[in-house]
Amino acid sequence: MEVVILAGIRPLATLAADAIEALLRRKPDAVLGLATGSSPLPVYDELVLRHEQRGLDFSRAHAFTLDEYVGLPAGHPQSYREVIRREFTGRVNISPDNVHGPDGAAADIPAACQAYEDAIRAAGGVDLQLLGIGTDGHVGFNEPVSSLASRTRIKTLVEQTRRDNARFFGSLAEVPHHAVTQGLGTILEARHVILVAAGAQKAQAVRDLVEGPVAAICTASVLQLHPHATVLLDEAAASSLRLADYYRHSYDNKPSWQGL
Ligand code: GLP
Repeated sequence: MEVVILAGIRPLATLAADAIEALLRRKPDAVLGLATGSSPLPVYDELVLRHEQRGLDFSRAHAFTLDEYVGLPAGHPQSYREVIRREFTGRVNISPDNVHGPDGAAADIPAACQAYEDAIRAAGGVDLQLLGIGTDGHVGFNEPVSSLASRTRIKTLVEQTRRDNARFFGSLAEVPHHAVTQGLGTILEARHVILVAAGAQKAQAVRDLVEGPVAAICTASVLQLHPHATVLLDEAAASSLRLADYYRHSYDNKPSWQGL
């Protein structure tokens, strides 16, 4: 796991965008794994800028989102399908047909989850997965004590997660109780994982993720088992890390050819 600590979300977004740009230039038909939540938004803004100003080309790329609420009507502004379209995919030249998300409105949720797993596999797997982290350490909607081997399925949201996400809805009562999410086993199969976290409210979850034991109580800690996981942190999110100085030293002395 590589931990990078920088002074603010903008330079973190630049680094993540650099990695995505390098991937697209090397492999124009790359499969991107997209996350919702506020943390990846500066990354999307930076990619949109590069698309507009430098012609960064998404025309052959594919995208799979991590998760989706269950029970929101199609087109609901807070459905993750809509959020991703509004915040990112609708602002670059990726084909809408190439953007996929788990179906939270399916009559047969288990069958839809299996179909999603099959679609990711048929596309050749995710090349680069962007992630945020919940205050309880979740990635996607893999809430505490999710199986570390889980696949795409329905999960019940923890109340804290509903409260955290209520800011996107009119009220807490409007936040669904269930979501479908890629599993931890699914996420582990992405070839490169980049997790972005900012703000003091993420400091404990980040400490558990990076320096805690691999344990389902903090599902993000499963990334310790991933061979290519990058954790991008601002100073506040990194403020509880014991080895922060070591991570800074490693990054400052990294060979320039290495990239993320
Ligand atoms: C939601 C999403 C997660 C995201 C988390 C944190 O729960 N399902 O994918 O990481 O929110 O969101 P934020 O970055 O807004 O703190």
